[in-house]
Amino acid sequence: MTHYKTPLYGQTAIVTGSSAGIGKAVAKTLAKAGANVTLNYRSSQEAAEEAAHEINTDSDAGTAIVVQGDVGQENDVNTIFKQTISHFGTVDICVANAGMQLDHPLHKMPLEDWEQVLRVNLTGQFLCAKAAILEFKRRGMREDVSKSLGKIIHMSSVHEIIPWAGHANYAASKGGLLMLMESICQEYGPEKIRCNSIAPGAVKTEINKDVWSNEEGREQMLKLIPYKRIGIPEDIGQVASWLASDQAEYINGTTIYVDGGMNCYPGFANGG
Ligand code: BGC
Repeated sequence: MTHYKTPLYGQTAIVTGSSAGIGKAVAKTLAKAGANVTLNYRSSQEAAEEAAHEINTDSDAGTAIVVQGDVGQENDVNTIFKQTISHFGTVDICVANAGMQLDHPLHKMPLEDWEQVLRVNLTGQFLCAKAAILEFKRRGMREDVSKSLGKIIHMSSVHEIIPWAGHANYAASKGGLLMLMESICQEYGPEKIRCNSIAPGAVKTEINKDVWSNEEGREQMLKLIPYKRIGIPEDIGQVASWLASDQAEYINGTTIYVDGGMNCYPGFANGG
């Protein structure tokens, strides 16, 4: 049973791309804080169901359901919202987390890999924000659960400000996301919708396993992290749960870097 005093008690969250990695940790942390959660996945049904099971068997957490959908497709995003609303009544928190990398040197990058990354990482964020705003406005204020009409959290990356050779499609999608987030903040802040981003640095997940899973890759990664620790998904989950709560009510239009200092140009520590 979630306690009435838990920060997200009585609220419902959608977390896209939450069958594993950062999305799964965010979903579990939000549920621990009392929220009901829709776990969305595109292809890993079994993993998503296992994540939901972990939440549903935790007597301190909210309830979880699982909904399939590709965030790059408007119909799928609408389905994720419709099923959440029919099950839980509304949506209070949208964590647009789903993202991907398809890496190539720019001169060898197939147009389809450019477009696919932009579709999931940027268009997908737009579609989720649009559906969330429509639902927040339809439902109206619920002062008993939150001082905000709704909260949108975009999962960005340090690469919204750090250029990344060999990953131009990914960096461009995250750079675009910064302006999307800030524009939404300007446009819907007056309606008490809070829109922010979290920018993880190097966090151990499948997306960068080829780097952190070998000694040389790990060393290279650590050179880029002043705090000298590679992140774990729970580092992001905790920040997302706080950012979604009224404890962070006055935070709007901001990116929170959760990166051990990666955005502080560590290459300049001994040079320049
Ligand atoms: C990327 C990871 C990378 C990290 C730091 C993330 O956004 O998805 O692959 O390790 O940024 O460079």
